[in-house]
Amino acid sequence: MAVWDKKILWAVMLVLTDALGQRVNYPDPVCGVKGSTVTLPCSFTPLKSVVVNGREVLIEIIRVVWCKNHELCVFTTPSVYDSESNNNDPRYRYLGDKKGDCTLQISDLQEEDNANFRFRMEANEPRASFTNRSGVRVTVVDGAQMEIRSSRHDGEFKRGESVTLNCSSPMCTIHQLEVTWFRDGFALSESGPTVHLRYLTAKDSGNYSCGLKKNERTLSVPYSLHVEEGGGGSLHLIVRLMVGGLLVLFAVIVVVCVIKRTAKKVEDSVIYSSGAIYSTGLRQTTP
Ligand SMILES: *[C@@H]1O[C@H](CO)[C@@H](O)[C@H](O)[C@H]1NC(C)=O
Ligand SMILES: *[C@@H]1O[C@H](CO)[C@@H](O)[C@H](O)[C@H]1NC(C)=O
Ligand SMILES: *[C@@H]1O[C@H](CO)[C@@H](O)[C@H](O)[C@H]1NC(C)=O
Repeated sequence: MAVWDKKILWAVMLVLTDALGQRVNYPDPVCGVKGSTVTLPCSFTPLKSVVVNGREVLIEIIRVVWCKNHELCVFTTPSVYDSESNNNDPRYRYLGDKKGDCTLQISDLQEEDNANFRFRMEANEPRASFTNRSGVRVTVVDGAQMEIRSSRHDGEFKRGESVTLNCSSPMCTIHQLEVTWFRDGFALSESGPTVHLRYLTAKDSGNYSCGLKKNERTLSVPYSLHVEEGGGGSLHLIVRLMVGGLLVLFAVIVVVCVIKRTAKKVEDSVIYSSGAIYSTGLRQTTP
């Protein structure tokens, strides 16, 4: 009876640890330019132990494998990295360990890396070996033309407005790509995927394009931006300034007049009262 209880308990615990303990976490989809290096940060948690014939076996990871486009990374699947192999392709560097870090770095990215990469851990006890099938999607961008996205499609702006331009590849939503921006064919200093243009003036008008660094084929279709400085607009401004100036002048005149009047009254009363004091003083001293 006690033995049965123990077995059931172990079974329940095994189910629980299976559900809770065993994990592999992949990063979000990764995009990279052909020839560049990308890193796939990855972490895993093996089971602590499993029960074999009523006996608890502590789990140790003895082999780690990365493969591409295979559901499970098992058997004869060609792997891109295998801790048990002596001739791994040096383009795939395992930066992880057998404890919890499964980070993989891919250098000199090639078209063949356009794939789903999966990680497998193999344990001293086969039941504790595991592959998370979701994997990490790697996209290789090469000659794909970049696109400029803006909140305003017509590109018509008024002086003082601002705009954000995004440069991205239609193949993936990317932020780590290095891009070059151009206005009318001249390179701008910005190198991020996004440029903010604030307080637009006529000088910002022009045809904007962007592309991946050192890859002219990726240059986007130009985005034509036009800032309306506006002849009518500046005339309007002059009129407003003049009206404003006149109002200020008028106000100043009024204030000056009021001050002068009050000053005169004060002066009069001072003269009057000092005269009174003087006369009283006189009266007091004369007798
Ligand atoms: C498998 O990987 C995905 C992506 O990282 C993650 O959301 C999920 O929790 C993982 N599942 C397991 C059982 O490790
Ligand atoms: C441009 O990118 C920013 C930040 O990545 C985002 O918030 C914004 O919605 C994007 N705008 C457009 C028009 O795609
Ligand atoms: C921008 O391109 C348009 C045609 O797409 C052209 O008419 C215009 O002159 C260009 N503007 C500049 C400043 O080069």
